[in-house]
Amino acid sequence: MIKVSLDEIVSGNELQFPIFDGFGRLLIGKGVAITDSMLDRLKKLGVRKVPIEEEGYEDIEEVDLVDQKSVIEANKALRDVSNDIKKNKIADPEIIMDAADKLISEILNKPKLSIAVNDVRIYRDYLLSHMTRTAIFSAILGTSLGYNDYKLKTLMLSSYLHDIGLLLLEYQDENKIVSFEGHPQYKDHPTIGRDVVRRLGFSSVVANAIVQHHERLDGTGFPNSTKIINDYAQIISIISFFDSLTQPFVGEGYSPSEALELIMGNSGIMFDQDIVKIFVKKVMPYPPGTLVLLSNDIICVVKDVNPSFVLRPTVKTYGIYENHEIKRFELDQIIEIDLVKELSLTIVGQVNSKGVLKRFTNPESL
Ligand SMILES: [Fe+2]
Repeated sequence: MIKVSLDEIVSGNELQFPIFDGFGRLLIGKGVAITDSMLDRLKKLGVRKVPIEEEGYEDIEEVDLVDQKSVIEANKALRDVSNDIKKNKIADPEIIMDAADKLISEILNKPKLSIAVNDVRIYRDYLLSHMTRTAIFSAILGTSLGYNDYKLKTLMLSSYLHDIGLLLLEYQDENKIVSFEGHPQYKDHPTIGRDVVRRLGFSSVVANAIVQHHERLDGTGFPNSTKIINDYAQIISIISFFDSLTQPFVGEGYSPSEALELIMGNSGIMFDQDIVKIFVKKVMPYPPGTLVLLSNDIICVVKDVNPSFVLRPTVKTYGIYENHEIKRFELDQIIEIDLVKELSLTIVGQVNSKGVLKRFTNPESL
């Protein structure tokens, strides 16, 4: 499998994985040859990159953080609770607790999980997926911080519900939202979220984490521009910022490595230094299927990532970059390189979601 930009897909290409929306509805099945109308539909839904099967790269597999079923259930729980609140019905906080418990137990069963970006994004369910991903990534970070069961559960619930205030704001036409920030009440969403979770019966610790998730240590955040921020909110602010950069609602977004640089640049300014240090170690900057440029000018596909050396994955050679395009190698030219063993080689660039090569300005900074 390699991950390519939707712009590079031509009709006839076969999808390596089925594409579902945030509620588990199948959009396009595995192995289906893509047609022009499917491509149009995927673009309209906001899908940017898709995994496709390519000869020579069949052994590269997508990283699965948690079971897709649990993610879908988590998205559904958020949607059901927010719909009930919108309709002034009594919302059941138990379905939120159950979904959060399932995610936690899956994460605890996989202690070596990394924070990995999966580029399939769907506008319609964007916010629900962002909230669920933030919960999963926060819990992964929480385990690295040595959080006990109580703290992990509090962190998970706070991050899972962090944007519930935004979910409750009325947007005229959900398919035509240009940005969430454009809503006149956008900056009230942390406060709205805090009040809602209190009414639902969640603890004041969860409520305080939610109200502070856009605060920054240098006082540039909102709603209160406070510089004293609880630990849960500090974790959520980093994770949710990272997710919005790498999987934005609109636009191309940042690669995981670019987002990491931006967060590290703000370490000790907007974000807590100690948390950033551990966060950086947990993020997978080059998930399997990513096209990267090595210091010997060869473009490779990331195959496996060793959680202890996330910057030095095993890669398979793919081609060279000439005259602004990638010249593919023949099948018999493909070799595997373990960058943990080949210390003379480093990753110096990445092919972005539009198929354009970006060289890092400062590759050593990660
Ligand atoms: Fe938010």
